[in-house]
Amino acid sequence: APTVAELSDLIAPHLHLEGPLLPILHALQDAFGHVPEAAMPLITEALNITRAELHGVMSFYHDFRDVPAGRHVVKICRAEACQAVGGTELAEATLARLGVAWHGTTANGAVTIEPVYCLGLCACGPAAMVDDKVIGRLDSVRMDALLAEAGA
Ligand code: FES
Repeated sequence: APTVAELSDLIAPHLHLEGPLLPILHALQDAFGHVPEAAMPLITEALNITRAELHGVMSFYHDFRDVPAGRHVVKICRAEACQAVGGTELAEATLARLGVAWHGTTANGAVTIEPVYCLGLCACGPAAMVDDKVIGRLDSVRMDALLAEAGA
């Protein structure tokens, strides 16, 4: 786990900014892959905000996580065009098959499932993104293959 000194070194350079919270969260997440629990009191104290405010910001910006992600992140599009062509059912079936909720990670640590709101592939939904790769025209067979490849 990171030490207080390591965390403070990442937090301090942003404190002079007008809106320091997002840069701080990005710096921590870049360094650790998530915003470590130990950083929370340091942030709330430095910025004079409440824990609830911090959590509110972290959950508003879907990119931040408070626990490490799995080895692969699968983002499933939940925006309208994809929903209209079976995206909702595909997402629900995927979550059920993996036994996780949104933002959850499979028990073996292989895959985290995140919602995403449009990947720019609206004409060929349902769409998803596996790590950095965007994939369209998904169905349950292709999704199963992607998940198997990712080790889920
Ligand atoms: Fe899914 Fe645009 S709505 S990619």
